[in-house]
Amino acid sequence: MAGSKTKFNTKIGAILAAAGSAVGLGNVWRFPTETGEHGGAAFIFLYILFMIILGVPVMISELSIGRYGQKNVSHSFSSMSGGRKVWGLMGFLPVIAGFLVLSYYSVVAGWILEYLYEAVTNSFAGKSPDEYAADFGAFSSDVFRPIMWLFVMLSITCVIVALGVQRGIERGARIMMPILFICLLVLAVCSFTLPGAQKGLTFLFSPDFSKVTGATVLSAMGQSFFSLSVGICCLCTYGCYFRKDVDLVKDSLSVASIDTIVALMAGLIIFPAVYSIEGLEPDAGPALIFITLPNVFQQIFAGMPALAYGFSLLFYVLLVMAAITSTISMLEMSASMFIRKYKIKRPVTCVIVTLVCFVLGSFCSLSFGKWSDVTIFGMGIFDFFDFLVAKFLMPIGAFIICLFVGWVVDKDVLRGELTNGGTLRQPLYPVYRFVVRFVAPICIVLIFMNELGLF
Ligand code: PHE
Repeated sequence: MAGSKTKFNTKIGAILAAAGSAVGLGNVWRFPTETGEHGGAAFIFLYILFMIILGVPVMISELSIGRYGQKNVSHSFSSMSGGRKVWGLMGFLPVIAGFLVLSYYSVVAGWILEYLYEAVTNSFAGKSPDEYAADFGAFSSDVFRPIMWLFVMLSITCVIVALGVQRGIERGARIMMPILFICLLVLAVCSFTLPGAQKGLTFLFSPDFSKVTGATVLSAMGQSFFSLSVGICCLCTYGCYFRKDVDLVKDSLSVASIDTIVALMAGLIIFPAVYSIEGLEPDAGPALIFITLPNVFQQIFAGMPALAYGFSLLFYVLLVMAAITSTISMLEMSASMFIRKYKIKRPVTCVIVTLVCFVLGSFCSLSFGKWSDVTIFGMGIFDFFDFLVAKFLMPIGAFIICLFVGWVVDKDVLRGELTNGGTLRQPLYPVYRFVVRFVAPICIVLIFMNELGLF
């Protein structure tokens, strides 16, 4: 059938692609970092709560808007609104957000490639604890090396996306997601046998609500957004490739569950490891996976170099897989409009978007070294990009999406999309509708006001 290549071929492929987008550095890097900084179990409890009341409803909304229109985000919004052209402007949100997020996220993803390279060449062996920090500092502030890895990362992403929806994105997810799960499982099981396992588990699973502050609540909300890739129409873009017989509610719940499980497993790997060394603390911030962990792996397996080697290698393979399945979705969200609305050839679009992101990403990378005094609104370039995406575009986008499905779209159209034209029972539909009309928008306004420092 002509055009069928522009849909995900199988139901599992569609779920894996969406899960691939969601599961990323947000789970294996940002989640442990945030959990460490906000005191552990109580943060996790709130994060899961917000996944349920905020992340999942926005995800269901994005997927249903995309799937309704089938062509591109712009077309989906205007046709679902009953033909109001102004809603088509929402099609530009994923284009802009895609450029921004891909540019800075790929910088960190590039660092991971460097660390994978170091793991492969066994360069962690024999370093002293101080050397890890010094080496990371020297590497991230260097001009050439991080930019070279940025280029490699973007090129891999570009090739996969240029291959198309089925042959690139779906196949990539079907290959990489199982590898990711296997790495996770092996690492988590090994982590349980470490001396710090008990302490790590207590930190992760016994909440101390006295530690919860306003900042904890709001960070947990922000993390649920970023982790599910919702708010900037990334999943709306993927929704256009979903077939009409997919159960969007069930799929969203599966994706959110996979995402949460991966985040928790990352925690199960990292915290027992951190606690198994005397004197290390879980709140090491972003340095956790680049300084603390390589050091930890060498120390706990000090007498067994093969295990130290294997553990480090698996860990960075896991991170690379997680990062690539997410960067793919970021490139696709920018590229899709040009390909589907303006009919520019897929490979040409991918190369152009990649080059632009390479230039922007290089600026972000330089902001860790040579350009560290260049600031925009008081932030370095990298931090500014992150702020724009995660703390500005995501909440605003999610807010508009909720208002759109809750108040603009005809309720029979929405119900029709979620029940696949009345063929599925959707007992949770009234709850979903109530959430997108009232609960989610109010929560989002609260996050946003916090980000703006209004309270
Ligand atoms: N959800 C991804 C992660 O956890 C990040 C992401 C954000 C992906 C926005 C796509 C769009 O790493």
